[in-house]
Amino acid sequence: MTRRLFGAATAACVSLGVLGLALASAGAGDAETPTIKSVMQKLNGKGAKAESARLRTALAKPSPDWKTVQTSTKEFAALSASLAKSEPPRGDAESWKKFAEAYASQCQALDDAAGKKSVADTKAAFQKVSMSCMGCHKSHKK
Ligand code: HEC
Repeated sequence: MTRRLFGAATAACVSLGVLGLALASAGAGDAETPTIKSVMQKLNGKGAKAESARLRTALAKPSPDWKTVQTSTKEFAALSASLAKSEPPRGDAESWKKFAEAYASQCQALDDAAGKKSVADTKAAFQKVSMSCMGCHKSHKK
């Protein structure tokens, strides 16, 4: 009897501990999630330093430097993947998740195409990414 009680108490402590750990790691992840604004500025901002500008320039070359292209497309894939974890300044969470995940998968397709060093596929994928802006902004940008 005492043994059984002890067992139950131990189990309860263990599950509380696991819950605590899960909450702690979720918290840590949130702290490291870049803001939507910073992701937008880095990927799509004005000026030659934004990844979209770098990528456009790199892809305009007759024979693109794939290292430069892939450095950009990796940023697209990594930063876009963080968006779904953030809360949009406007619009509901379900819609945000849909837009953020669609954008992330387009950016991943872009990185995959660059990984294969296909000029045509990379350009086509970049074109798709470049047309994603309006829909999401209409629903979620203030
Ligand atoms: C998944 C949704 C989504 C997609 C796709 C998206 N944006 Fe955004 N963007 C946002 C949201 C939300 C904001 C507002 C962020 C804020 O103010 O906190 C924003 C803000 C911006 C800003 C302003 C950043 C600043 O300094 O305030 C620029 C520029 C921008 N987006 C460009 C683009 C371009 C260009 C594209 C397409 C290539 C694009 N965005 C695609 C959601 C998106």
